Amino acid sequence: MPAFEWNKIIASVLTALIVAMVAGILSNEIIRPRHLEKLAYVPPGANSGAAATATATQAKAPSLPPIAPFLAKADATHGKQVAKVCEQCHTFDKGAPNKIGPNLFGVVATENIATVPNYSFSPALSKDKSEKWDPEKLNEWLADPQHFAPGTKMTFAGLPKEQDRADVIAYLESLK
Ligand code: HEC
Repeated sequence: MPAFEWNKIIASVLTALIVAMVAGILSNEIIRPRHLEKLAYVPPGANSGAAATATATQAKAPSLPPIAPFLAKADATHGKQVAKVCEQCHTFDKGAPNKIGPNLFGVVATENIATVPNYSFSPALSKDKSEKWDPEKLNEWLADPQHFAPGTKMTFAGLPKEQDRADVIAYLESLK
């Protein structure tokens, strides 16, 4: 093949390459591809990172206002009256037997959670054995036992009023 034939072939290949390149650049300019900021469709079960953290913090966030201001004006005598609803399942005197629920003498701050002797706690509560019942925990527990320890066998709906809970906590604290 004569040399000028080769030149033609090389020239046409180069031209084709340049045309392809320019077309690519131009088409990118004309139709700017926009990438989605987040997935438009999240398959069920595949939580996107942000959503997962949001749920986690929501679950942890304290749902109740602090009990301290109510404890400051708590009335243990009234608490003892409110605690009558607990008596179908609990005893409060020192050394009194466990009923459906454990004996509650000295339960605040002195005893760890779920450690009353001769009482078989549910796994829902006994997983917190290394902690003590402080007023904040008792507040959450007494407001909604199933929320504080999902699966607990304390089938008690909870005390909805802050001051009632504070009074009961003050009563429990007075049992020493
Ligand atoms: C229907 C029965 C029932 C009623 C009513 C009830 N409880 Fe309970 N309570 C239980 C049971 C059962 C447990 C053990 C829960 C478990 O192991 O999951 C428990 C556990 C507890 C504990 C944890 C004790 C520990 O040593 O860790 C506290 C505190 C408590 N109850 C306080 C109260 C108070 C205060 C009231 C009344 C406002 C009350 N309960 C009403 C059945 C009851």
